[in-house]
Amino acid sequence: MAALQEKKSCSQRMAEFQHYCWNPDTGQMLGRTPARWLWISLYYLAFYVVMTGLFALCIYSLMQTIDPYTPDYQDQLKSPGVTLRPDVYGERGLEISYNVSDNSSWAGLTHALHSFLEGYTPASQQESINCTSQRYFFQNSFQAPNHTKFSCKFTADMLQNCSGLEDPSFGFEEGQPCFIIKMNRIVKFLPSNDTAPRVDCAFQDEPREHRSQMDTRPLQVEYYPTNGTFSLHYFPYYGKKAQPHYSNPLVAAKLLNVPKNQQVIIVCKILADHVSFDNPHDPYEGKVEFKLTIQK
Ligand SMILES: *[C@@H]1O[C@H](CO)[C@@H](O)[C@H](O)[C@H]1NC(C)=O
Ligand SMILES: *[C@@H]1O[C@H](CO)[C@@H](O)[C@H](O)[C@H]1NC(C)=O
Ligand SMILES: *[C@@H]1O[C@H](CO)[C@@H](O)[C@H](O)[C@H]1NC(C)=O
Ligand SMILES: *[C@@H]1O[C@H](CO)[C@@H](O)[C@H](O)[C@H]1NC(C)=O
Ligand SMILES: *[C@@H]1O[C@H](CO)[C@@H](O)[C@H](O)[C@H]1NC(C)=O
Ligand SMILES: *[C@@H]1O[C@H](CO)[C@@H](O)[C@H](O)[C@H]1NC(C)=O
Ligand SMILES: *[C@@H]1O[C@H](CO)[C@@H](O)[C@H](O)[C@H]1NC(C)=O
Repeated sequence: MAALQEKKSCSQRMAEFQHYCWNPDTGQMLGRTPARWLWISLYYLAFYVVMTGLFALCIYSLMQTIDPYTPDYQDQLKSPGVTLRPDVYGERGLEISYNVSDNSSWAGLTHALHSFLEGYTPASQQESINCTSQRYFFQNSFQAPNHTKFSCKFTADMLQNCSGLEDPSFGFEEGQPCFIIKMNRIVKFLPSNDTAPRVDCAFQDEPREHRSQMDTRPLQVEYYPTNGTFSLHYFPYYGKKAQPHYSNPLVAAKLLNVPKNQQVIIVCKILADHVSFDNPHDPYEGKVEFKLTIQK
């Protein structure tokens, strides 16, 4: 009850508040004199300046430890992944099937190859240089324009019969299709001691009961470039900033004797000293496996 009686009127409260905002007797604003407000502001200003400086110093010293020419996190990758074109995925991995007599069934596949090879036209490779040595192309300094390193040309015509230039159907029309195999890039990766990595494609070994029905002849393959090698002069790769024009080298495999009207499993492996293809956790490490059905 006492509290209610002591309740102040509205005008009293306003007057008190005004007195708090500006007290003419003591010269205080909001409970402090202007001089004290100035000191407090200066104190906080200095405090935040110091904090910002410390933060900037931390970021700066962190940036000093980063080399812009190499990615920081790539230690898990010891062996490169392998990809296939055309890449059509079924329920369980790559599954390619088409009918030789129905050109609309393979038009999409050859279109995928043509558009992939657009990155390998002479025009899109013109910033790269011709390389002829079959050895590693080590570059310790940045001698290419704009403080970069040189990249070697890889043009579609090096894939000869699988370049799509003379045979725009990439062999799909006659049931001897070309597949393009690409090894993913890893910065500063050297695939082997001194021999160029090579692609090797074969039928995957089938369980024994299926084998009697299978065509038991080995798979015949024509590789482009010759021998199915990735020349060593495309290695090492120094990263996107150092080699902005780098293109992965390719190998094309033209499969000559795929049995018709049945599904076969084909595995293309990269054979090189430092490439492994038996990682159970990554089926696309060092090899690519695909199902192929050619109907006729
Ligand atoms: C392939 O295409 C031809 C022409 O369209 C058709 O007659 C044939 O039945 C097809 N083959 C299969 C296995 O689907
Ligand atoms: C398929 O073949 C027919 C006749 O040979 C032709 O008229 C048609 O343009 C071809 N289609 C494609 C997508 O190549
Ligand atoms: C690179 O090779 C291509 C084809 O062999 C040739 O046309 C071109 O002039 C060469 N470029 C240089 C810079 O040597
Ligand atoms: C160098 O950089 C300039 C400006 O970014 C660019 O126009 C030019 O094409 C670059 N030169 C080469 C050879 O990449
Ligand atoms: C390319 O194909 C043509 C015609 O099919 C054949 O005569 C030639 O031997 C092939 N080239 C290579 C390098 O296999
Ligand atoms: C490649 O070099 C490594 C290390 O120097 C060695 O252990 C390995 O046996 C060599 N492999 C071949 C095929 O020479
Ligand atoms: C292909 O391999 C054979 C035998 O291994 C070798 O003599 C030939 O020089 C190789 N060709 C190329 C272009 O590397």
